Amino acid sequence: SIFKNPKEASLSVANRIASLIKEKQQKNEKAVLGLATGATPVAVYAELVRLHKEEGLSFKNVITFNLDEYYPMQPNAVQSYVVFMNENLFNHIDIDKNNVHIPDGTLKLEEIPAFCLNYEKKIESVGGLDIQILGIGRTGHIGFNEPGSAPNSGTRLVTLDDLTRRDAARDFGGKSNVPTKAITMGIGTIFKAKEIILMAWNKKKASIIKKAVEGEISSEVPATYLQLSDNVEFILDEDAASCL
Ligand code: GLP
Repeated sequence: SIFKNPKEASLSVANRIASLIKEKQQKNEKAVLGLATGATPVAVYAELVRLHKEEGLSFKNVITFNLDEYYPMQPNAVQSYVVFMNENLFNHIDIDKNNVHIPDGTLKLEEIPAFCLNYEKKIESVGGLDIQILGIGRTGHIGFNEPGSAPNSGTRLVTLDDLTRRDAARDFGGKSNVPTKAITMGIGTIFKAKEIILMAWNKKKASIIKKAVEGEISSEVPATYLQLSDNVEFILDEDAASCL
């Protein structure tokens, strides 16, 4: 779907998430959300916070799994996705912090494979992701699945693309401070979600959105794999959709 502006698009995504949470509450079930970071979902989280504060939406039955985290990364560093999620969402809602999962940037290298397997198992053990929300990087990455990622990839340690590190340079005060690696859910992990929503706004995403939606399916642009899924929806503003 194409919306006039990021605000309207974000409200529609927040409302979808809120409906899922309420539906699950009525059935006494958990809602399992796959969450993303970056500038793109910020207004979605702000609306969820508003729905909590002003309309009593409860997150007590919500379990979350974030897509990715830089590696190495301390959870209290300003650039960490832990701080991002706390500031934009978790600190402002009634979620049980035991239900929050974010890849751990403090692990020793040799601990990462077991952590990643366990991340997959935890998602499965709560019934899988009901909704996965995604942004898109200018390399065509989803999560941190950079060009070259396999369609059946699982949660793992990856090396960040140079363009991704340049895009992150501002947050880190220079590209040389941006970690070279990250832990990310895989393309395969994302594909298991019952519903996938990819959001993109602004002109600077227009060319990668064209490739993702209309381009040949290829590991060179990991987001093209989404063309193979029946459960995916692109939520765009007019600028991001302007090359389609
Ligand atoms: C980072 C995140 C991605 C996100 C991308 C786009 O690389 N790991 O999950 O989609 O940035 O960021 P933004 O939304 O700021 O454009």
